[in-house]
Amino acid sequence: MIRVDLRSDTVTHPSPDMKKAMYDAELGDDVYGDDPTVNHLQEKAAELLGKEAGLFVSSGTQGNLVSVLAQAQRGDEVLVGDQCHIMNSEAGGTMVLGSVVLYPIKTDEFGFLEPDLIRSAVKPRDYHKPPTRLLTIENTHNASSGRALSPEHMKSMADAGHEKGLNVHLDGARIFNAAVALDVPVSDLSKHVDSATFCLSKGLSCPIGSVVVGSREFIQEADRWRKMLGSGMRQVGAVAAAGIIALDLMVERMQEDHDAAKHISSRMAEMPGISVDPEHIQTNIIRFGVPQHTGDQIAAQLKEEGVYINGGDSDLRIVTHYGVTKDDYEFAISALDRVMKNIV
Ligand SMILES: Cc1ncc(COP(=O)(O)O)c(C=O)c1O
Repeated sequence: MIRVDLRSDTVTHPSPDMKKAMYDAELGDDVYGDDPTVNHLQEKAAELLGKEAGLFVSSGTQGNLVSVLAQAQRGDEVLVGDQCHIMNSEAGGTMVLGSVVLYPIKTDEFGFLEPDLIRSAVKPRDYHKPPTRLLTIENTHNASSGRALSPEHMKSMADAGHEKGLNVHLDGARIFNAAVALDVPVSDLSKHVDSATFCLSKGLSCPIGSVVVGSREFIQEADRWRKMLGSGMRQVGAVAAAGIIALDLMVERMQEDHDAAKHISSRMAEMPGISVDPEHIQTNIIRFGVPQHTGDQIAAQLKEEGVYINGGDSDLRIVTHYGVTKDDYEFAISALDRVMKNIV
């Protein structure tokens, strides 16, 4: 039996407050713009991130997709980090459905894109080249073990894009983790970009949903794409209600997840066969190395011990989240220690 599921923060279940809010939510038909709960969530999200308007979407993937489609046309080029989620883990949706060209820029170990690399990736006007229109940035950066990029880093990347006439989109699936880790208002991280997506269904523990924010004009266009993608949803306030609770009550709580990740990673650093730098762990994601070809075996043995993590050849991932107790974390640490002693 699985006792602790540390595969992702997406496995979280709604809190009792969320369930009550979902049950009690005032509803309307959101395709007519009539759902007061959805409208409240969208306005709240936009205000928090310092933008004019918001749009409730089904997932982070859909949020990124409508944001790209609303800002780049078929045949345009979009600059992305080479380790980013949009490029590597969204089924190529922007390329397939938007027919845009993704151009990957080398990402540093902190998830940062050097401004000079951004500037030099923008194509000159030349009919041999796709016109570069959009830059996307990811914060926290999933592949870099959830590193949080500071307001200064956000500004320097966005400025480089804007100088070259690009729009800038933030994949902020975990932007609230970044704000909590850096102890800054989330708007400090979003104010330099034109559009942003954040997820309610990760560390914020909602069952479903993400929100896209930006200018009113951009949101109107993103809404058209959402409709085309089949996600014009009806009495969806039943789900959005959880998002309002999340923004009111679940943001500061994520510090507990970050503290747990720090604690677990420092214990892991003492285990045989594991390479991890606890100093690098800033939010709720721990990526760690194990000897080649042992990753899946380690994950399988842990599962037998009741601990679920994401497997791989030599890179594994643990994500801390709501609903896991300190005892559960200690249980997982002991299980990992036993498995590593057995394998190495
Ligand atoms: C950085 C990042 N962006 C976007 C997404 C996509 O979110 P969803 O799974 O809701 O589609 C994820 C999911 O893990 C993510 O880590």
